[in-house]
Amino acid sequence: MGARPLVTLTLRINGAEHAVKSDADTPLIFVLRDELKLKGTKLGCGLEQCGACAVLVDGKAVLSCVTEAVAFEGKEITTIEGLEATEIGRRVQNAFVQMSAAQCGFCTAGLVVASTALLQENPAPDRAAAATALTPHLCRCGSHPRVLQAIERATKSAL
Ligand code: FES
Ligand code: FES
Repeated sequence: MGARPLVTLTLRINGAEHAVKSDADTPLIFVLRDELKLKGTKLGCGLEQCGACAVLVDGKAVLSCVTEAVAFEGKEITTIEGLEATEIGRRVQNAFVQMSAAQCGFCTAGLVVASTALLQENPAPDRAAAATALTPHLCRCGSHPRVLQAIERATKSAL
């Protein structure tokens, strides 16, 4: 069987346009990590089951491990590397550090992305709303209580 033809994608990531060659069915995370060397987005399950691979797409937390990169053309993608450019992203990252809301850190980028998406949509979420936003995100180190505290801290630091 011959090599599969590559397509050229234009993706807008962290405020800049990137032209990349990829198989048409390559999921976004592999383009981010392998082609663009944006290694902050982590591959956990690869099955849309754990939340580790979340990135912001047009402001919403979206899993990147299954959907083909080509489906994200024309959208605004923000990875963990780009979050510090936004006031809410900086606030969330600082709160995670201040509350030590990570242990091994493997799930952390996805949780920071989800927390940022939450605060962009709801500037003052209560504990239940925050827990709901984190539901798709598994953390085998058990950091969820501290992540919830970090969201509270990020919320209060805006008040
Ligand atoms: Fe995407 Fe687990 S790696 S949800
Ligand atoms: Fe280790 Fe979440 S901090 S999996």
